[in-house]
Amino acid sequence: MSEIRVEYDLLPKGSEGRVVVIAGGANGIGEALVNLFYRSGAHVYFSDWDTVKGTKLEGELKSSSSSGHGSVRFSQADARDYAAQLAVFDAAYKEHGIVDHAVFTVGISDPPGWMSGNSLNLETVKKLPVPLDDVLDINLKGCLYFSRIAIAYMKEGFVPNIDSTGAGTRKSLTLLSSANGFHSAPGLYAYAASKSGIIGMLRSFSPISVQNLGIRVNVVCPTATDTKMVANARDFLIAMNAPLSTAEGCGKIIQQLVLDPRHHGKVVLVMSDRGWDIEEGLNRTRHQWMDDEAATILEETQVKMGPNTDWAAIHT
Ligand SMILES: NC(=O)c1ccc[n+]([C@@H]2O[C@H](COP(=O)([O-])OP(=O)(O)OC[C@H]3O[C@@H](n4cnc5c(N)ncnc54)[C@H](O)[C@@H]3O)[C@@H](O)[C@H]2O)c1
Repeated sequence: MSEIRVEYDLLPKGSEGRVVVIAGGANGIGEALVNLFYRSGAHVYFSDWDTVKGTKLEGELKSSSSSGHGSVRFSQADARDYAAQLAVFDAAYKEHGIVDHAVFTVGISDPPGWMSGNSLNLETVKKLPVPLDDVLDINLKGCLYFSRIAIAYMKEGFVPNIDSTGAGTRKSLTLLSSANGFHSAPGLYAYAASKSGIIGMLRSFSPISVQNLGIRVNVVCPTATDTKMVANARDFLIAMNAPLSTAEGCGKIIQQLVLDPRHHGKVVLVMSDRGWDIEEGLNRTRHQWMDDEAATILEETQVKMGPNTDWAAIHT
């Protein structure tokens, strides 16, 4: 595993003048990111369904003295509303002629008991589990909507001439998954499924995104982070001495991934304000954890298919 180092001098310099769209920016990790980018001189367009907090944050930032040369604009948008998400990108693009970076931080957790436990029985099973739809629609479908729109706006003006590692590629898409996307999460059924789905999206997109579209893509997988999402579990986590990140510490790692052209195709575990890429280790040790023969066949097939082949196009 390789650690993601935060370069404290890159973050403000690299952010200056960049146009950054952030979904879920009114609270928690998204709010920390809005702060970090705005105070570093970026043009930040952030959305959330929490109009009260979003409007308040926009007002506070606009009246603060540490704005650099940046700007900030909040829009109310439910992540499930495609048109509302599109409007945020469109406003950024119309005003600046470019979108440099897009970060999706929206997420909700599973309510307890809908899939297991005492509240599932032969009576309650007859009703459609509404929380299932909410978690998948917001966390996963919302993320795919956001990614599709981000790709359309960010690929504008792309001239193919960049090596496949992503080095030198300025534009980036960054998606918030969770450690529960790849690590056991008892009871968080829909949440874990949605967060694994985001990692799946990265693995489909990253092999073609730099060469074909000029966009780097990375996924961030925090363990517990001190926001309202884990507020009820905070005392328990502290009593267990579990690793707990701050929203700002997690935000700085995300900002590094967003800006640093060396980072592409990474799935970054964030724990206690430190980040580690797990994809590099998974790829390097594939012949051990998969099976040598199986890994060889998969890799040879991938090479024959060509790294830039769009599988959906050959299926139809
Ligand atoms: N806090 C943690 O311990 C933790 C751990 C792992 C992953 N994550 C992930 O990090 C991301 C940020 O979480 P956070 O801890 O900052 O939580 P948070 O609850 O503080 O922030 C989430 C934001 O998403 C917004 N939101 C929720 N549903 C929305 C919708 N339908 N449309 C628009 N906005 C919506 C909320 O209003 C809020 O501003 C999430 O994707 C979460 O799953 C958090």
